[in-house]
Amino acid sequence: MTGDRHDPAHLRLGLNIDHVATVRNARGGAYPDPVRAARLAESIGVDGITAHLREDRRHIRDDDIARLMAEISLPLNFEMAATEEMLAIVLKYRPHAACIVPEKRAELTTEGGLDVAGQMDALRDPVARLLDAGIRVSLFIDPDARQIEAAKALAAPVVELHTGTFCEKATHGDVQGRARELLRLREAASLGAGLGIEIHAGHGIDYDTVGEIAAIPEMRELNIGHFLIGEAIFTGLEDAVARMRQLMDEARGPAILAGVGA
Ligand code: PXP
Repeated sequence: MTGDRHDPAHLRLGLNIDHVATVRNARGGAYPDPVRAARLAESIGVDGITAHLREDRRHIRDDDIARLMAEISLPLNFEMAATEEMLAIVLKYRPHAACIVPEKRAELTTEGGLDVAGQMDALRDPVARLLDAGIRVSLFIDPDARQIEAAKALAAPVVELHTGTFCEKATHGDVQGRARELLRLREAASLGAGLGIEIHAGHGIDYDTVGEIAAIPEMRELNIGHFLIGEAIFTGLEDAVARMRQLMDEARGPAILAGVGA
């Protein structure tokens, strides 16, 4: 089993630290510090840090991004709406990666994928500017052939498949729905990888659902936040990450590892 995040056979685990900031902001102070969580992540087998600076700054704030860039050596994946405000921030800091997500002020979290096919004209310029700055761009989309083909047309090197519906079906014990959503994810991953797009996934992943997602052969990175930060309350972040990592590695199995990069 490889632990090298640069090895294509290694399924990377990105830790989303937004909800450390949610707890901090509940009291308006400085504790708990999401940058401290990112620092801890460096020593416990996490491959990257994900943070979403939302328009309303409900969790991560501007100075968190500045501190992450200054203090953390893991690659930062900056989730962002495709607005001029966010583009200015990400082009100033130039993180390793930017993931463009849809954003509505009223939603609790990112509820659906980005409608790339319906917003080609609006997304063309932001994607091109990020790529020109050397930032790895990903588009957070539903597992849908139209969206993947649109991402390809925009020359996005990466798509992150929204696993929220799959995870929701799993949580509600909807066996058929779970199987159907998994098939959508598998087909989307296969289509995307066939077009030369790197495949990531995220949203709602927990210990129960990670195995099926990690077992998708084309998968290269999972971004997981809410569950791991929640689980850290009970077992600590190190144990929560170690268990997630173990489930990912078990699901990859020797067959997938042998096929990757072949
Ligand atoms: N990936 C993207 C693009 C997201 O918007 C989110 C939620 O912020 C995640 C991954 C992580 O989802 P969760 O917190 O449910 O694990």
